[in-house]
Formats: sequence, structure tokens, C-alpha cells
Amino acid sequence: MADVLDINVTKVKKSKLSKLSLEDIPFGKHFTDHMLEANYEDGEWRNIEIKPYQPLQLDPSTSALHYGQAIFEGMKAFRDEKGDAFIFRPYENFKRFNLSARRMCMPEVSEELFIEGLRQLIEIDKDWIPTKADHSLYIRPLMFATDPMIGVRPSETYKFLIILSPVGYFHAAPMKIAVEEKYTRAAPGGVGFSKNAGNYGGSMYPARLAKEQGYDQVLWTDAFEHKWLQEVGMMNVGFIINHTFVTPPLEDTILKGVTRDSILVILKDMGIKTEERRISIDELIEHYEKGNLNEIFGMGTAAVISVIEELKYKDTIMKFDVHTFSIAKKVKHQLNNIRQGKTADVYGWMLKV
Ligand code: COI
Repeated sequence: MADVLDINVTKVKKSKLSKLSLEDIPFGKHFTDHMLEANYEDGEWRNIEIKPYQPLQLDPSTSALHYGQAIFEGMKAFRDEKGDAFIFRPYENFKRFNLSARRMCMPEVSEELFIEGLRQLIEIDKDWIPTKADHSLYIRPLMFATDPMIGVRPSETYKFLIILSPVGYFHAAPMKIAVEEKYTRAAPGGVGFSKNAGNYGGSMYPARLAKEQGYDQVLWTDAFEHKWLQEVGMMNVGFIINHTFVTPPLEDTILKGVTRDSILVILKDMGIKTEERRISIDELIEHYEKGNLNEIFGMGTAAVISVIEELKYKDTIMKFDVHTFSIAKKVKHQLNNIRQGKTADVYGWMLKV
């Protein structure tokens, strides 16, 4: 049961919040007063504490730094007009965290530790939740291997942390994207579906090459033919083709995005047809040339929806007038209204803190 979790709480003497304005804050640069920490030893999670946000002391041989047993999650908390705090769909992130843990040979965390730990931490730092539109409290749970050893085997000890960061826009401007033809984010049988640190580290070099060519990110394609579309940058990707929403299916190369899932639910309720199916770059170009590719966007917790104004594949440059993206706009609006308590939470997605 949630209330049996024994958390040792030490609060800061003086909050840092008075030094920060919660408007127009850069993504992920500021952290709240407290963090949650737990250590896995002898087969169980121990020493669960909420304490002042502080640096960690690590042995240079800490296993995660060498072999990458490191996973994380991303969620958001909001405050409604009455000032009550809510977390958006935390049970989905909890399930995905343990999915990632299993794939990376790491221990799972209990629902009590993840959800109740998070709830208690946010309760303490809830004044840090921005209320401005498109702002929120970004929640970052993470776990990494802590055995001080450089032998290659799964660690026997781990650290679980939750840190909180008040955030504004992740990527506000429409994106220019290059279709990736050489590098790969994920291959079948690999770890693409998990939210492990290495997936993000491995994507940085291709993204940097794209930036040098004037693009914001890459559209990932499959490992064998570089033809089947997977994800865009660090987000799931969606297309409106002939007024139907199309997104690649949840194969093991695709992250089980909570925003992706929420968008599928809302669109179905809006009466928009949805298809989770494989889609190739050739098919996409064909729709573009016929004038049937109406909208294209990324979907993720950080950005929610990030529209794409230009897509390059070999010599083909596809341009989009993002002001005409009515479905992306409508679904984002609906999602934001649910999260900010402006629309009834008919799906039961908001967990009250
Ligand atoms: C998200 O969209 O939430 C992401 O995964 C990006 C995150 C790594 C900042």
C-alpha cells in the first residue's frame, strides 16, 4: 500500500525559489529544493529519503559510467486554477520505467517507491510548479548501476533518484528535419523501445551532423533499408495523411510514448481516423507530391507536439505551412486543457498530489 512507504524526509532550511522567476524558464536548467534517493542493495530498495537537492559522490569505477546500465523517465506535473497539483499519467511512466529496467538487466522499482515517492516529493516542492501556459514541472526519475567495479556484469547495487525541474518550452519553433540515411537509432532486438541513457547519447552525433547542414534534428529510419520511418529526434512521429493520423507501430525499435498514446486516444474521440502502421519515406513523398500530406509533427513529454516545417530526403525538400496544421493544434490544445484542469479529465489521466 502506498502509505506504508517509509521515507525519511529532510527539508531545506531556506528555499531557492525566491531567486527564480517561474516564467520563460529554459528547459532542464533549474532544479527544485528537494530530491528523492533510494539505494538497491542485497535485493531490495533501502534508505529511501527525500532530502535537499545535492551533488552525488561516486567512485570513478561506478559501473553505470562504464557500461551504461542507466535508465530514466520524463513526466510532468501541473497546477490547476485552484492551485492543486496533478501529475500526468504517472502509472504509464512507472510501467515503462520497469520495462526499461528489465531490458537493461536492472532491478524493478515498486509502485509505492515510484508513485508514492514522487507524490510526496512533489507535495513538498509544489510551489515550484509553474502556472504559465506551456510551462510545467518536469519530473525526471532515473536509475543507474553503482557497483564500484569494472568487471562486465550486471551491477548488484543501484541508485534510484527523482529530481524535479520547472520548465518552459522545450523546442518552440517549427523544426527543420533531415531524413537519416546512414546512422541508426534502433534495430530489432535492440534497446530502442527502452528509455536508457545510451539511446540518447548515440543520437547526438547524427543530430550534430544534421545541425551542421542547417537542420534541427533527424527523422530516424530502420537499420536495414533506411526507408521505414521510426522516430523524429527524441520523439515519436505522427503524420496527417488525407485527414487520417498515421504513426509507426510499437515495434521494439519505437519508444512507447505516453504523449503518443494520449494523442491517439484524443484523436479517436475527436472522430479522426488513426492508423498505427509502418510507413516508408517513399510513401510519405508520394503523399506530399499528391498534396495529401497535411501535417507532420513530433510527440513527446517535453515538447508535447513539435511541428515540422521542412523535411529533407536526398534531393527532395518538402515544405509545410505549419499554420495550416489544424489537427496538431486542436489535439495539443485539448491535451493542455486536460493537464491544466481546464477540461474535465474524462480519461482519469491526472493523479492528484
Ligand atoms: C521527451 O520528449 O520527453 C524526451 O524524451 C526528451 C527528453 C530526453 C528531454
